[in-house]
This record gives sequence, C-alpha cells and structure tokens, in this order.
Amino acid sequence: MISVKEHWETIYSKKEENQLGWYQEKAGVSIELIKETEIKPDDAIIDIGSGASILIDNLLEEGFYNITAVDISSAALDKTKKRLSSEDYVKVKFVVDDVLNPIHTEVFQNLSLWHDRAVFHFILNKADKEKYINLLNSSLKKGGFVVMGTFAQGGAEKCSGLEICQYSPEDIKALLGENFTLVKGFNHTHYNPKGDERPFTYVLFKKKI
Ligand SMILES: C[S@@+](CC[C@H](N)C(=O)[O-])C[C@H]1O[C@@H](n2cnc3c(N)ncnc32)[C@H](O)[C@@H]1O
Repeated sequence: MISVKEHWETIYSKKEENQLGWYQEKAGVSIELIKETEIKPDDAIIDIGSGASILIDNLLEEGFYNITAVDISSAALDKTKKRLSSEDYVKVKFVVDDVLNPIHTEVFQNLSLWHDRAVFHFILNKADKEKYINLLNSSLKKGGFVVMGTFAQGGAEKCSGLEICQYSPEDIKALLGENFTLVKGFNHTHYNPKGDERPFTYVLFKKKI
C-alpha cells in the first residue's frame, strides 16, 4: 500500500491542475468568507493542504502578504510556485509538511486565519481528527478565524480514490467545540471538470477571545 504522501505526489505529478476533480478557476467562496473576517493584509494566513490551489493567487490579488501554503506534496506546491511572479513569491511561505504530524511547527503559530478546502474530509479516524483540531486550535490566535470547505452529506463518498467523511456545519461545530463560534455555514455546489455536481459545506468560525 502506498503512503498518503506518495498518493498525492503521484496525483500532482501526473495531472494538470485543471484535470483535478477539485480544480476551480477562482477560489470565490473562500475569498468571500475571508473578506468577511476583515483581517488585515499583514495578518498571518495558513492554507492547509493548499495543493496547487488558485486561492494563493487570489489572496495575493486581495493584498494579503503573510501567507503560508502547507501541503504533504511538494509536486503540488511546485505548481503554485511556478505561477507566481518573483514579487508575489516572497509573500508566500511554501512548506511541505503533514498536518497530522507536522515538523515545521514554527509556521503553526499566531495565525489569524486557518483555511482548509477539501483536506479535512480525508481524515477518517477519531484520533487523527482530534490531532488536526488540536493543531488548528493551538495555531490560531484568540479572535482568529477558520474557513473550511468539506464534502457535504449526499455527495461523493470518495475523492481521488480515497474515502472521505461528509459534514454539515453542525457536524464541524461539534468537532471544533466550545472554543469556536459558528459565524456562517452553508451548502455550495462545486462542479468538477467533467461537469458532475459535488456538494460542499462551507463554514466560517471565529475563535473565542
Ligand atoms: C483535494 S486536494 C485540495 C487542494 C486544495 N486545498 C484545493 O482546494 O485545490 C487535497 C490536498 O490535501 C493535501 N493533503 C492530504 N493530506 C494531507 C496531510 N496530511 N497534510 C498536508 N496536506 C495534505 C493533498 O496533497 C492535496 O493537495
């Protein structure tokens, strides 16, 4: 059986970004939610399992410049690196790491915003979910925000050949616990490159002060 890292390195080495099921031309929903937080351009943002996501380009377009893109796959992050101008490149830290067993602990500190689209839903067991949530909690400043997009109930049961969990906003609220206030939660349909519907849940949480 191949490791999680090998799985994702192979996916991103073999396919163009726009052939991937989760590809989007613009990270529209995430950007709208991030703008609602009113965080400042120099506030620290982390994108967990960033892949080759256009979110990084879109954050730069919005003026943010303290951005960390973390992914278990270096091939994924290389795709984003190649798209950026030298001026933008210096505004982003690219970190190859496993969010369930991080080595680069220095990047998981004093964050104003934790963003995760289509990563948390791959975590299947309770202990790993707890690890992820503990890291999220300890990384975020008080008053910091979480923007998350996961598969929703009734949608696909697998992605990229891997099993996933489906969530409602209330499910995520229960997992994050008392420390977080649900500001907004809703359904959004993503269309994959084949045109198939992929129902997503999006949430915005604020960490209590
Ligand atoms: C479905 S893709 C989503 C990518 C990106 N967030 C987007 O919206 O385009 C899932 C991403 O999570 C990354 N990933 C999976 N498990 C991870 C882990 N344990 N730690 C860090 N990244 C991980 C994969 O390499 C992949 O880039």
